[in-house]
Amino acid sequence: MEKLIVEGGRQLSGEVRISGAKNAALPLIAATLLAPGKHTLRNVPDLRDTRTFMRLMGELGVTSERNGNTVTLDSTQLVHAEVSYDLVKTMRASVLVLGPLVARLGRARVSLPGGCAIGARPINFHIMGLEALGVSCRLENGYVDAEISTPLQGNVIYFDIPSVTATENLLMAAVLAEGTTVLKNVAREPEIGNLIDMLNGMGAEIEGKDSGRLTIKGVTSLRPADCRIIPDRIEAGTYLMAIAATGGNGMVTHCNPSHLPSLLEKLRAVGLIVVETKDTISINWPEGDTNSYRKLRSVDIKTMPYPGYPTDLQAQFMALMTISSDVSMVNETIFENRFMHVAELRRMGADIKVDGHSAVVSGKGMRGLNGAPVMATDLRASSSLVVAGLAATGRTEITRIYHLERGYENLVEKLTGLGARVWKESV
Ligand code: EPU
Repeated sequence: MEKLIVEGGRQLSGEVRISGAKNAALPLIAATLLAPGKHTLRNVPDLRDTRTFMRLMGELGVTSERNGNTVTLDSTQLVHAEVSYDLVKTMRASVLVLGPLVARLGRARVSLPGGCAIGARPINFHIMGLEALGVSCRLENGYVDAEISTPLQGNVIYFDIPSVTATENLLMAAVLAEGTTVLKNVAREPEIGNLIDMLNGMGAEIEGKDSGRLTIKGVTSLRPADCRIIPDRIEAGTYLMAIAATGGNGMVTHCNPSHLPSLLEKLRAVGLIVVETKDTISINWPEGDTNSYRKLRSVDIKTMPYPGYPTDLQAQFMALMTISSDVSMVNETIFENRFMHVAELRRMGADIKVDGHSAVVSGKGMRGLNGAPVMATDLRASSSLVVAGLAATGRTEITRIYHLERGYENLVEKLTGLGARVWKESV
């Protein structure tokens, strides 16, 4: 096991290149199950989660090869339709193969994910939607056994809450159903748009991209895909906040600024100058502001489905607010237990009070945190500890960094490129 050491207090500056989005890569890899043949996916990040997903695909019979960030997958021969608990317990997104397997093979057996560090995270919407398309789903011995006796039938499906992976699962099932499916109140995250583009490129007929209502005219077969993964908006946001927290100026490149509407407005509200081009975002402190201890204004956030403020950037923003100049409120509306980072940030000197889904953060000013040994609890909580560690005075040691490795490609190299002093050590 390894830990991450962060020597804080150094201003970050320069450019960092953003990788492909983990949460787009996973559904797009799953979608290759829909059409036999050789698929090409480009800009696929090399992460613990993408590697686990490729292993899962291998167990189903899909052979794959990685050449840099280009991955080819051959899904001609599927040999299994079952995903074991061993895989699902390490990566909940494994459930994304349920829809495509049923559409291609007429059956699937996937272990039910349990709760996780950030909440209960049920999959009832996935199952309700598949049942509406004619799939019989039995829950037995911790597995979902999904099966059809007649071809999938299009239907109108309404989601109580916009769910990202349920929308993706249902899209992947409905593209090969007979007739038309209408999905209402769906999630609109850019990763879903990436999946829609891939499926339409394979011959699917999906309308309504980026809206809350998708219409899918079923087709009888699809052809292999050649598709590019969109840039990781959460990685981009994390680096922007890391730079800001150290009082630095810098730029993220190879990203899509239009995928971060709420964060960029929040960064402007804290007092930074944010400049967007087609594929870069830079943040700068106002000119003439040469204080070595700069001031961040305190700003409230409330997490919401896209285009609202993303829950996956909540912990990092909270870390930023711990060194702001006043009091701010962080309201988490998506997951019921996504404040695990609070206890760790407090160990670094942060003043945060939690009441249910709200946290009140009393900023300590720039350099108001001190390095400390802390523990990573989930992917985004861990990245907030990195942001805090970079801003803090002294040394922060983060254990359980396998969480970070799930979602941040070449983290140490990228931070080092920005001038940070970070390295891994064996525990
Ligand atoms: N929900 C249900 N029933 C369902 C599905 C969802 O009640 O059947 C609830 C959830 O419990 C939650 C809300 O609906 O309260 C929204 O959850 P959603 O289904 O959208 O989350 P997800 O699809 O499981 C994806 C990302 C998460 C990200 C969320 C929210 C992937 C692989 N995962 O999860 O990413 O936080 O959307 O944006 O796309 C991460 O990358 O660190 C991460 C956790």
